[in-house]
Amino acid sequence: MAEHIEMTPERAAEVIRLDKAHHWHPFTQMQEWNAEEHEPLILTGGEGAWLTDHRGRRYLDGNSSIWTNIHGHGHPVIAEAVREQLGKVAHVSALGFANEPAARLAAALAGLWPEGTLSRVFFSDDGSTAIECALKMALQYFQLSGQPERRRFAAFEMAYHGDTMGAASLGGIPAYHERFRGHVMEACRVGSMEDLEALAEEEVARLAGVVIEPLIMGAAGMRLWPCGMLRRLREWCTARGVLLIADEVMTGFGRTGKLFACEHEGVVPDMVAVAKGLTGGFMPLAATMTTERVFAAFLGRVEEMKTFFYGHSYSGHALGCAAALASLEVFRRERTMERLGPLMEVLGRELGRMRDEQRTHVGEVRRCGFIAGIDVVRDAATGERWDWREQMGMRVCVAARKHGLLTRPVRDTLVVMLPLCCTAGEVELAVRALGLAIGEACGGAGV
Ligand SMILES: Cc1ncc(COP(=O)(O)O)c(C=O)c1O
Repeated sequence: MAEHIEMTPERAAEVIRLDKAHHWHPFTQMQEWNAEEHEPLILTGGEGAWLTDHRGRRYLDGNSSIWTNIHGHGHPVIAEAVREQLGKVAHVSALGFANEPAARLAAALAGLWPEGTLSRVFFSDDGSTAIECALKMALQYFQLSGQPERRRFAAFEMAYHGDTMGAASLGGIPAYHERFRGHVMEACRVGSMEDLEALAEEEVARLAGVVIEPLIMGAAGMRLWPCGMLRRLREWCTARGVLLIADEVMTGFGRTGKLFACEHEGVVPDMVAVAKGLTGGFMPLAATMTTERVFAAFLGRVEEMKTFFYGHSYSGHALGCAAALASLEVFRRERTMERLGPLMEVLGRELGRMRDEQRTHVGEVRRCGFIAGIDVVRDAATGERWDWREQMGMRVCVAARKHGLLTRPVRDTLVVMLPLCCTAGEVELAVRALGLAIGEACGGAGV
């Protein structure tokens, strides 16, 4: 495979020159990126859990290409489904027209939840738009149901729900969100279930919804919620007529050991946002799912102005929907969720071993199913952290490349979020690569 994706040095140099001259990368300090001495990796190919760079070097995709990839790169079933759809039509508008992959996918997604619960599916493009859509849907729902005063959302400290303005209103990570605080909706910010329970009645009466990353908060640094918290939140919302909006953008499609994180606590939210892994990581596609009750509030004659005036040009994208249907098919054919059980055990075991070997610089290690976060610290004995300016998390990840692993940290939390198609050996390789990289990057920096 490497032969036809390797690049000549001249071509690689040209790509880097063009990139540095024009491509503004997300979440990236471009002064550092564009520095003369920085040679970006150009990723040229992918197969299964592996990525290849322009020099033909191979790496395990340790964060599933920013938490998107599920069954591996280039999976033949998904690739074939996309090709087949491409032979018909790539994209048609969902404004005023139906298309077969979108209709079939909507039905298939509804079928993943208990019958008669999340039966309505609104398509958009990515995690942020799925959340944006949920917020507007919730606001309009309460306007149409005679409760227009319900116009605020509760969200958690350190939450991350995306970067569009509505989604960013819910965000609680100071570095990402503080700068825009004065420009977005004001959210009711809570740190825990106890904080929510302590809210004044007048505040609760103004809430349209509570938005949560169920079980584990990704961008917060893979922080886990206490067991049973989601169930308690469901009960709290139901008792107060507040919509429970689950952001399964990261957790959806198997990562936590069940298809959706909500399943672990037998919870069905009133709305759920899915994106990243929806297409197996092949295409940008998202869905906001909701109940018949919410949907019914929007029904009426045109002149009643109940229509949900919301949408995106690529809503219900035919190629994306074909990829998503194929991804669900792969879950079935390959018994992905059954295969995952032993892999999660291997991950747990390897993390434990790594921690024993790297006692000085490994702080807390958290795991939720097939997702893990490893805190690198200056001194585990005292809990002293690295100065964030040292960018130790990133330095460890760069060091891990030599050992065959690509991943990206969340600040000083190393992320292990492999595609679900991995073998036990690949899980071992990923964790061992990080262990070695911690020794090299942190050890060199001294205690
Ligand atoms: C929980 C969660 N919600 C929403 C988003 C935003 O998704 P996107 O980057 O596709 O807009 C992310 C992205 O990391 C996420 O982790």
